[in-house]
Amino acid sequence: MSDCKSIQVHTSPAYAVTIAPGLLADCGHRLREAMPPCHMAVITDSTVAPLYLETVQKSLAEAGFTVSTYVFPAGEGSKNFTTLAKILEFLAERRLTRTDCVAALGGGVTGDMAGFAAAVYLRGIRYVQLPTTLLAAVDSSVGGKTAIDLAAGKNLAGAFLQPAAVLCDTNCLTTLPGDVFADGAAEAIKTGVLCDESLFALFEDETLTINPAEVIARCVAYKAGVVERDEKEQGERKLLNLGHTVGHAIEKCSGYDIPHGHAVAAGLAVIARAAEALGWTEVPIARRITACLAQNGLPTGTEYDAESLAASASADKKRSGGDITLVVPRRIGLCELKKMPVSELLPVIRAGLEG
Ligand code: NAD
Ligand code: GLY
Repeated sequence: MSDCKSIQVHTSPAYAVTIAPGLLADCGHRLREAMPPCHMAVITDSTVAPLYLETVQKSLAEAGFTVSTYVFPAGEGSKNFTTLAKILEFLAERRLTRTDCVAALGGGVTGDMAGFAAAVYLRGIRYVQLPTTLLAAVDSSVGGKTAIDLAAGKNLAGAFLQPAAVLCDTNCLTTLPGDVFADGAAEAIKTGVLCDESLFALFEDETLTINPAEVIARCVAYKAGVVERDEKEQGERKLLNLGHTVGHAIEKCSGYDIPHGHAVAAGLAVIARAAEALGWTEVPIARRITACLAQNGLPTGTEYDAESLAASASADKKRSGGDITLVVPRRIGLCELKKMPVSELLPVIRAGLEG
């Protein structure tokens, strides 16, 4: 395949992220490169199943895998203990063993939850990621963070487990509704603000003629490097949480009605305005960032007040003891970590909402 990109992630275990059109129809043979034939439990959601499950099942069976499938109701509302327990019971009923594998076919919700099921079933079995949203392709399918949400907050139960392979079929992006595509744009814009002004600039183009495969490859290459240097988020990996402190608070305040990408976009706008107002940036950046988000159909603010957001954020896992680490943009392409007492979060959020 001439338009096939492959990025190696040198974690333990190491794995390849392959990005190309048409990969799902060939996923069986592709996955045989990463493992011998085994029992593959494909976990997917109720929107993705009618679109892609049959193609995946057929390809896996042709390559010699035994296939079982589990479909859960689409949406963040399913990313909880109830669905996780059903997936675990399903894996046990189908008698998957430690030499078998879970395949997450879908967006970030499927990837996070199927990955977590794989991490705890039999104390850990292999899994692979077959991302079908732009957000999953540019971010969540890579790096081995798996999780479910708790009533107290977003992603509060989870595990680190690297996938055995990631196959990103760019044809899946053609069936994404515009607002779900925008969720992925939010994480890609975040990556641009973190490390690459030219990536950010692609999303400023009014004609919006981005090449998704190129954007995915650039985001994955950056994330792979960060994860290789800091797999368990002891330091540098915290940068990937840019926009997430307020973003997760918005998601929680909305009862998980506002999708992750939209919430991260609003969180990015809030921290950009706060950083500029508090004199933490080298140059003005807030207008440029909010204009780019708006250009991509993303929000640049929130209806929730600073007090509600600060209360929600103080339960976030980015807190350690009485401190919280914020990711602060200095300019587009460069961010830094700022550790501060949780009590200082409220004035920062206020500055970001007012700026
Ligand atoms: P999602 O998985 O809920 O997918 C969004 C919607 O799109 C769903 O309704 C889904 O059924 C539908 N869909 C998926 N693929 C489709 C396709 N090809 N065509 C049509 N519809 C399709 O949400 P998401 O935005 O992909 O992911 C958000 C989740 O990812 C959040 O839970 C977030 O916490 C998590 N996340 C995790 C990481 C990580 O590193 N693990 C990073 C970022 C985000
Ligand atoms: N999305 C944040 C991370 O993977 O660390």
